[in-house]
Amino acid sequence: MSCSLRPVGRAQRARLEQLVAATGLFRPEEVATAVELLDEALAGDTDYRFVGAYDDGDDLAGYACWGPTPGTVGTADLYWIVVDPARHGQGIGTLLLAEAERRLQADGSRLVVVHTSGRADYAPTRGFYERRGYTRAAIIPEFYAPGDDLVIYLKDLTHGVLARTVS
Ligand SMILES: CC(C)(COP(=O)(O)OP(=O)(O)OC[C@H]1O[C@@H](n2cnc3c(N)ncnc32)[C@H](O)[C@@H]1OP(=O)(O)O)[C@@H](O)C(=O)NCCC(=O)NCCS
Repeated sequence: MSCSLRPVGRAQRARLEQLVAATGLFRPEEVATAVELLDEALAGDTDYRFVGAYDDGDDLAGYACWGPTPGTVGTADLYWIVVDPARHGQGIGTLLLAEAERRLQADGSRLVVVHTSGRADYAPTRGFYERRGYTRAAIIPEFYAPGDDLVIYLKDLTHGVLARTVS
């Protein structure tokens, strides 16, 4: 299917909430946080940047949200990337991730950090990141909840400069 990348606006707020909830992966407070980040961005907070993938019918099929990590130089957090479960495996997540990375590179970011879960139902998500150049950097056991580890992934956008300069 063809998808076009455009900003996420107020008109997509309910659809975004529906998409995040529809994954079945996120707790209600996490779904609420995803919507809050959009609200912050729409209110002018540049710490949260969004891009949406729209289908031919102009429906929001997925989105990515990222922003500079406070207190760092050139490090960014990829906060969310979500695709409509009915459209998984069609390349939309790859498109969104590539666009977020392209914009981060254009903004001078060096390092992308992803926080995700170690739960079994997140195995496809972890595979998605690992096959796109993300390295598992740390695990914090039981971080999110009993039996729910935090897994931290990194991607060096400088293509090795960081690895060579950090000893
Ligand atoms: C992870 C996610 C964004 C990938 O989006 P997508 O549009 O399905 O991804 P693409 O079609 O571009 O790529 C498919 C790849 O993702 C993997 N994948 C992850 N979850 C998948 C799913 N539920 N269905 C199909 N493929 C999935 C596939 O194994 C495939 O890997 P490969 O191409 O390396 O073999 C999407 O599956 C999703 O929204 N998952 C739920 C939310 C989530 O976990 N978000 C990340 C944490 S914030």
